[in-house]
Formats: sequence, C-alpha cells, structure tokens
Amino acid sequence: MQKWTARNPVGRIAYVNGRYLPHAAAGVHIEDRALQLGDGIYEVTNVVGGKPIDEEPHLDRMERSLRELGMEIPMCRAALKVVMREVIARNRIANGLLYLQVTRGAVKRDHVPPKNPPRPTLILTMRAQDVGAFATRMEKGIAVSTQPDIRWGRCDIKTVQLLPNLLAKQAAKQAGAFEAWLVDADGYVTEGASTNAWIVDGVGNVVTRDLSNAILPGVTRKIMLEAMDEAQIKVVERKFTVAEALAAREAFISSATGAAVPVVTIDGKTIGNGTPGPLTRRIHDLYATKAGIKNA
Ligand code: PDD
Repeated sequence: MQKWTARNPVGRIAYVNGRYLPHAAAGVHIEDRALQLGDGIYEVTNVVGGKPIDEEPHLDRMERSLRELGMEIPMCRAALKVVMREVIARNRIANGLLYLQVTRGAVKRDHVPPKNPPRPTLILTMRAQDVGAFATRMEKGIAVSTQPDIRWGRCDIKTVQLLPNLLAKQAAKQAGAFEAWLVDADGYVTEGASTNAWIVDGVGNVVTRDLSNAILPGVTRKIMLEAMDEAQIKVVERKFTVAEALAAREAFISSATGAAVPVVTIDGKTIGNGTPGPLTRRIHDLYATKAGIKNA
C-alpha cells in the first residue's frame, strides 16, 4: 500500500467549503478559528465497501456538538450525505476513514465568538485503513497505559482541541502501549484517549463508564450497547477503577476506527489469560453484524 505523507497523502481529494481539491492543495484561511483558537468540532466514520458506517448517529452527534458550542450547522444533512459520498467516490477508497471537521469560520482573531458569524468552515478528508495493522490488533490484542485525565469539563463534545488526548497517547506510546486509558482524580477510568473503555468483570458483566460530561458518547459504544441488549448480554454502565480493570476477565476499547479491540495488558500487567477474550470477540461480531460490516 502507498505510504501516507503530508506531501503525498493517500486520501487524494479533500472537500473544503464547496470545493473538491487535491489533498496537497487544500487549505483554510490562516484566521480560521480552529487554527487560531481550536474553535471547531469533528467526526470520524468508518467506511466499509464505500458506505459510511453508523452514519446517522455520527451526524446526530456532530449536530449536537455544534449546538452545544452555539455553532452553525454548515449544511443540511441530506446535502452533507451527498458530499460524504462524493468524497468517498473521488478518493476511490472502499475501506477507510472519513473525517469531517466544522469550524466557526475565518474571522479576525478574538476570543469572543463573532456576533455575526462568518460561514462555518467544512472540511472532509479520507484515508485508507491500515487493514494489516488492524487485523494484528484484533488477533493479538493491544497494550494500554493509564494516564491522568487532564482534559476539560465538556469531554462529551467532540472538539478538535485534542492536546491532552495526544499527550496521553504519546506517553502511552513511550510506555509501549497502543492506547492510553485516562484516569480521573478519584482513580476511575474515564475513557481512552481516542476510544471508549470497557471491561468484563469477575462475574461476567460487561462494564463501561456511564455517559456524562466526562466522556465522549461514542457512537460505536451506543450501537454495541444496542447489540448486546438484543443478545441479552448483561451490561452495567458505571465507572470502574484501574484496580478493577487489572482484575478483569477481559478488557477492550471501541471506536469508529475499530470496534471491540481486545486489551491484553494494562500498565504491563496481563488481563485475563493475556489473549483476546471470547466475549470481546462475540461483542465485536455482534456489533459488526448490526452495523452492516461484513468480514470485520
Ligand atoms: N475517536 N472517546 C474519545 C475521546 C474519542 O476520541 C473517540 C473517537 C471515542 C469513540 O467514539 P466513536 O465510537 O464514536 O468513534 C471515544 C475518533 C475515532 C478519533 O478521534 O479519531
């Protein structure tokens, strides 16, 4: 597969404010509020067989993020869906990740959001999935490193302000882990740096943190919960400590970039028997079927 570089991106066509442009030539104004102030939100959807997965709940969440920040919706949902399909088609990537970013637009820098906001900036980009790396993670499981959750009080909004997340991810990588599990001041896991966090406790209940301003309401989490409910798998939405996670039978992470990816070590300590757990695999398959993903 062709390697992605900033000069030679694999996702070749980007959509920016009404135009489809070669990725390398696409850009926004230097006064864009996302660049100057981090004033923007985003969404990521998995694309399988040319189709965005869990499209409606992703667009629901995108509109919610915009509403919560008092930002304008850049275009109606039907039009946005057309643009999404056009970006997928123009990039000729059947299986990949589609990124949508909306910012409060380009306007003279001021902390106070403008009274008469300019047109929001809408960006769509796409990239191919690294299918091999994903398959390895599913087969072998991943390592997680716990890191302090130093984020703000509205983690339920999917903003492009990701500094605490990326610093945690960097620290996790330095510790040899694939994901960071963020831990709040009371010792409870909130979520992953870019995923939701799950465990299977000693009696076989699936546990994930309940929704609040402390975590992102993951779309994959939501669809997985529905799939588990249909399969009568017992789930408890509550917070859990790092100690509980270390004693868990199984652990996994979820996100649009990979549903139910098994966690086999946390801070170097083995979870369960150190291999991907059977319930994790079952939940992955249930999710994939529900989301309409074949060969997940
Ligand atoms: N991340 N929690 C955080 C902090 C996230 O950034 C994400 C998604 C999730 C999972 O949400 P979903 O199931 O809707 O993808 C949870 C995306 C993939 C990203 O930032 O690339």
